[in-house]
Amino acid sequence: MMNIAVLVSGGGTNLQALIDAQNSGEIKNGKITCVIASNPDAYALERAKKNGIATRVIARKEYADVHTYTRAVTDALVEVNADLVVYAGFMTILDEQIVEAFPHKMMNVHPALIPSFCGKGFYGLHVHEAVLESGVKLTGATVHFVTEECDGGPIILQKAAAVENGDTPEILQKRVMEQCEWKILPQAVSLFCEGRIKVIDNKTEII
Ligand code: GAR
Repeated sequence: MMNIAVLVSGGGTNLQALIDAQNSGEIKNGKITCVIASNPDAYALERAKKNGIATRVIARKEYADVHTYTRAVTDALVEVNADLVVYAGFMTILDEQIVEAFPHKMMNVHPALIPSFCGKGFYGLHVHEAVLESGVKLTGATVHFVTEECDGGPIILQKAAAVENGDTPEILQKRVMEQCEWKILPQAVSLFCEGRIKVIDNKTEII
């Protein structure tokens, strides 16, 4: 059974999708054992507690720089013996120390179809604002492995959603979450726990 640790910063609806998938048996061979928040007020912490999952707060504002913050998060993940680390709405940038400690063992859900609308500055509602500004008719979500490059690691799963007339960033965010993120994140976690994701030449193959 793989030990899954989830990193969160906010509302935690993606964490909830993982908890629901675990409870329904969709995630085989894996168990969420720890939720770590960068923000003490993250509602995601309540979701974890309601489901009997251990929580920790490692508050970004208590650390002077990215390096010492990354060290603290990495140490905590090593301490809980995480086999898989999931960034589920984790809004804090970490440096290469964590990638070295968990190579191809960390995945992130991004609310757009990478390589569009990703990288520095593209997070949360900003992504959907940029999508609407551009006029594209399709957007979606991506789950990818975390590497040193922001939103640049091997893509595991993607799913598209339509951009519709009259969309606001909030409406589009909700559609992308419901139709894409809450589906592909549990699927990717499940595939990982079953040992079905292979990385070859910076690309993945689902076996
Ligand atoms: C989600 O849309 C997630 O994809 C996005 O923030 C939201 C968090 O919602 N993450 C990023 O933008 C990371 N680059 P949640 O806290 O309800 O899961």
